[in-house]
Amino acid sequence: RPTIAPIIAIDGPAGAGKSTVAKHLAAHFGLLNLETGAMYRAFALKAQRNGIGQDDAAALQALAATTSITLEPTPAGNRVLLDGIDVTGEIRNAEVTQAASRVSVHPAIRAWMVDLQREMGRKGGVVMEGRDIGTVVFPDADLKFFLDASPEARSQRRYEQAGSAAVVTPEAISRELRERDERDRNRAESPLRAAPDAVVIDSTGLTLDEVLARIEDIVSQRLATA
Ligand code: DC
Repeated sequence: RPTIAPIIAIDGPAGAGKSTVAKHLAAHFGLLNLETGAMYRAFALKAQRNGIGQDDAAALQALAATTSITLEPTPAGNRVLLDGIDVTGEIRNAEVTQAASRVSVHPAIRAWMVDLQREMGRKGGVVMEGRDIGTVVFPDADLKFFLDASPEARSQRRYEQAGSAAVVTPEAISRELRERDERDRNRAESPLRAAPDAVVIDSTGLTLDEVLARIEDIVSQRLATA
């Protein structure tokens, strides 16, 4: 893989700013941004539509065998296609969000996703964002970042992102985030964890521009010395 086509992994918990950072970073260096969380979300949506329980591993595995999920990077973010149909707008609600975290604990589902993600990133030139990119999907990524922030800062960000969707209270957001964190960090199969060689950045109290400046510096240096 030529280093002009690097693989950059960005992992971290929900609300740490991964998606925004990945999007800007990809635009800055002319790389493709691939948001793997959207794939788990699309699969969770399909399970929900088919009335399959999030804990029914066998039924989920059977469903996966007849499911196609693709990401189309655009400057505005990833378009997500579920069996060829755009579901980008439907995968962000609270119900699908929790369901994505639940279906992603199953080893067979993860193995399927990891294969798809390796295929998408194989040629490099990508910023891939998720929970297990630096640890499992691309353990030999050229650069790995683990973006973290305090639970309070992450809840606050999520609340601000929800904007005028005034049905959500800060308490509900913070409870949902904690629940998802717990599950994502404690599952047996590839739990959320910083790779030993990841650059850990705590974005609590940093602005987006400050986080981006740090990461862009590191990426520039790495590309220059490659
Ligand atoms: O990044 P996100 O909030 O869109 O991810 C939704 C859920 O998908 C997350 O709670 C856990 C799961 N996920 C995962 O297990 N592995 C990834 N690489 C990305 C997401």
